[in-house]
Amino acid sequence: MAETQPGYHWPHRHLLGLEDLSAQDIRFLLTTALGFDGVSTRSVKKVPALRGRVVVNLFFEDSTRTRASFNLAASRLSADVLEMAGKGSSVSKGETLIDTARNIEAMGVDVIVCRHHHSGAAAHLARSVDCSVINAGDGQHEHPTQGLLDILTIAKRTGRTDSFDFSGLTVAIVGDITHSRVARSNVYGLIKLGAHVILVGPPTLLPGAFTDIGCELSNSLDDVLPRVDVVNMLRIQFERLTSQAFPSVREYSTRFGLNAQRLSRAKPDLLVMHPGPMNRGVEIDSVVADGPNSAILQQVANGLSVRMAALFLVSGAPV
Ligand code: CP
Repeated sequence: MAETQPGYHWPHRHLLGLEDLSAQDIRFLLTTALGFDGVSTRSVKKVPALRGRVVVNLFFEDSTRTRASFNLAASRLSADVLEMAGKGSSVSKGETLIDTARNIEAMGVDVIVCRHHHSGAAAHLARSVDCSVINAGDGQHEHPTQGLLDILTIAKRTGRTDSFDFSGLTVAIVGDITHSRVARSNVYGLIKLGAHVILVGPPTLLPGAFTDIGCELSNSLDDVLPRVDVVNMLRIQFERLTSQAFPSVREYSTRFGLNAQRLSRAKPDLLVMHPGPMNRGVEIDSVVADGPNSAILQQVANGLSVRMAALFLVSGAPV
């Protein structure tokens, strides 16, 4: 287990992004998540840690993994869970995000888990309510629990859960970096834990500003692949592209897709990750996604423990 400094206490009422967390915060949250791993393998998959607390899932964008995972995580902690979607709520009648949240909060809510298409929406919410807010993905900004579950998956698969020290580990994040909140959260977390991060994609989808925080940039997956330990393949977010960022999907796939031929030129134990949902045959081929190097379903499983830890810590529940 990662050591924390004596006297360390989780200091955050909200979880808005990994940019706001220290390396020690990240290690502490992931160690807490490891402690929750066992709950999912019990016959009775429940602990009373958040009994009497109320968690609201407030999602203004579609989700499969994150939404289900937060719901299940809150249920496993014995919290009451309320599911709310933008569609079907009074937002469609013109009610603002803040009015919606304040009205929900007035019903005695302890944690709001929010996914929203605007970058900064979760932070805006956190400034406007008294309860805790967890960012479940805000526009192109951050997706902190995805970053944390990716990091936990890497730590488990590379034998680093004792220290969460990623020194000497090289991680490539491939694809549409510009529009990716997953990439941002991964970058902030991985760099803080000591990993070398290479961002790979076409020049139109690769913001140069990431070099300021220590990332290497590359336009060639073939150049980078033989020297990386982990590759995280991002989905091309067709819904966020406002202009033609590459000549065609076919060309993108030819240059940046992870297929069996490319995988054969990588390290044999390369860890292959994808946050989902996958565009099979575009950024990743099925033979790779479903093959022995893939940790994609382990990422999903680890998400449950990470979200239990996040809900538990922001709630300030007694340990
Ligand atoms: N990775 C992820 O955020 O997936 P969902 O959009 O299905 O929640």
